[in-house]
Amino acid sequence: MPTIVVETIAALRAALAGADSVALVPTLGALHDGHLALARRAKELADVVVVSIFVNPLQFGPNEDYARYPRDLEGDAARLETVGVDYIFAPGVDDMYPNGRVETRITAGDVGTRFEGASRPGHFDGVLTVVAKLFNIVGPTVVMFGQKDAQQVFLVKRMVHDLDFPLRIEVMPTVREPDGLALSSRNRFLDVNERRAALALSRALEAAESSADRGIDAVLAASQSVISGDDLVQLDYLKVVDPKTFLPVDDGFQGKATVIIAARVGNTRLIDNENIFLAGAAK
Ligand code: PAF
Repeated sequence: MPTIVVETIAALRAALAGADSVALVPTLGALHDGHLALARRAKELADVVVVSIFVNPLQFGPNEDYARYPRDLEGDAARLETVGVDYIFAPGVDDMYPNGRVETRITAGDVGTRFEGASRPGHFDGVLTVVAKLFNIVGPTVVMFGQKDAQQVFLVKRMVHDLDFPLRIEVMPTVREPDGLALSSRNRFLDVNERRAALALSRALEAAESSADRGIDAVLAASQSVISGDDLVQLDYLKVVDPKTFLPVDDGFQGKATVIIAARVGNTRLIDNENIFLAGAAK
């Protein structure tokens, strides 16, 4: 069956009526191989796969790249067709927010104001609000997210738990270019020099991983030195958090931790993360 593009909430609900199990892959579009990996896995998990493509104005700040965010519905549809996705849900802003800016929103709490949320105030409230709407529109059994957006994954999982959404979140590993750069729809904004400089993020995470047995200070120092070696890269944050709370770990922390990083490369803001195992401070 060819992939069908559905543009209204009513039409999608009608199309999905009676489906036994539905997997949802929420996206902003401009799809890359990371999204296709989510869609492929979704096919294994449910009878019907819906990929939503909606550049959600609620999660972009006034000075962010909402207007220039890449939009390519035709190209996206062709890529999803190769994976056998059943439906693309591509609503207009008027369909999702018929009264203009919504008054009722989900708040992401304290963690939602840190890291990405500190640099992009209101971002996660906007993400959780649209994700909750998509859950209610699609009624999925399982929803796919990529680990690249680690803070988003943490907050969505917590919302699902706190608000009792009857669905499961499936998280897939970050897909990378052969040289290590994490796939992102924003990579297309990088020129040749910026593309080379952007490798600093994944290299900083590799340095963090190789220093993990020497404790958190060594982790931060090793990754910091990779980032500060490139003038084109302006670090926004580099932190080590406890994946259970998404709060920074302290000196004596031992166990699985997540190194999160965000940096501006030219005009493009990139994020990445890696799980490491902290053995505690070196004696
Ligand atoms: O990660 C994204 O692409 C977006 O934040 C999401 C989950 C589709 C919500 O707009």
